Amino acid sequence: MKDAGYAVAVFAGDGTGPEVIREGLKVLAALGEGGPAPWRVTEYPGGGQYYLARGREWEPEAEAAARSADAIVVGAVGWPGATLPNGDLAGRALVLGLREGLDLFANVRPCKLYPGVTHRISGGFREVWEPKNVDLVIVRENTEDMYTPARGRLRRGGQTEVAIDTRVITRKGTERIVRFAFDLARARGRGAPADGVRRVTCVDKSNVLEGCRFFRETFDRIGAAEYPEIERDYAYVDAFTQWLVRNPEHYNVAVAPNMMGDIITDLAAVLQGGMGFASGANVGAEHAMFEPVHGSSPKHAGKDQVNPFATFLALEQMLRWLAARHDDRRLGHQADRLEAAVARTLASRSARTYDQGGSATTREAGDRVAEAIRQEAA
Ligand code: IPM
Ligand code: MN
Repeated sequence: MKDAGYAVAVFAGDGTGPEVIREGLKVLAALGEGGPAPWRVTEYPGGGQYYLARGREWEPEAEAAARSADAIVVGAVGWPGATLPNGDLAGRALVLGLREGLDLFANVRPCKLYPGVTHRISGGFREVWEPKNVDLVIVRENTEDMYTPARGRLRRGGQTEVAIDTRVITRKGTERIVRFAFDLARARGRGAPADGVRRVTCVDKSNVLEGCRFFRETFDRIGAAEYPEIERDYAYVDAFTQWLVRNPEHYNVAVAPNMMGDIITDLAAVLQGGMGFASGANVGAEHAMFEPVHGSSPKHAGKDQVNPFATFLALEQMLRWLAARHDDRRLGHQADRLEAAVARTLASRSARTYDQGGSATTREAGDRVAEAIRQEAA
């Protein structure tokens, strides 16, 4: 527990990032009213637009602040035309760079559907899935697989002939992500919505790929030896995409290698109402970074229309992680208050942005949640 408060380094980043972060900080300020808030927020510039203006993705002081902070929040990175000399996305330092540099090996993506949230499928806005059936967490390995720098091009006479990405699956990387997933299943108060069973599903392509075979073997060995009370469940990634949509209630915690995890988490976001509700925690042994995962959405930037709920849910993840790491009940209490305010606002259907078929602005959605926090305090 830190009496002086936890240092939170915030990078609003590109496009709609600053708009959703502005609302996130408004909501955090509402939580902190009526007492010294147990956090200190400092904002830093950085990202692709910053790179276009300054020729650097961020300043050395900002990077140092991220490294020394108790928690990091990133809005979004990426901007059309903002590319590093080697062709990489400018702004990657704030997301992929932090994942690598701070060894944030677990990407934790909750997928929970709140009452009052609609799904946009085939153009319409309908409540397709039952909120009681969608409450799972996907744990994605975040440092290896096809995301390692073991890649390159073979050029002949200045022309690319071959491009290669190498898929790296290590014992260390797999053991720690599998333990993380089982620990999460143990710590979560509830099992799968369908039957209450605490279950971890290993999502892979072990019927074809050697790395996936090793991933699954490791999952089995660690699960059997260290977590005998948690059910072990298996899905090939292709079949998983069908089952997840048909029977989301079967799932509690799912664990996957990096690239497959990237794909299935966006699919899962549809079940929770879309990317506007998808938050992610990038967690390591010593550091963590929290983000809404929708990206910078250049076409919506500056219009005050995107959905800020993913940012609120990312902040909830941050408060819970800080609470657990520092054994600090104050933060757990604030996370509960935030989630309750989010749930009440969504249920009231008073803060629906365009992606929900509504006309609320980003700012209005933030105001509604801040009001819900204050009402509960009153
Ligand atoms: C995500 C994103 C990132 C990824 C991009 C922005 C590099 O899609 O966090 O899921 O591929 O991991
Ligand atoms: Mn992704």
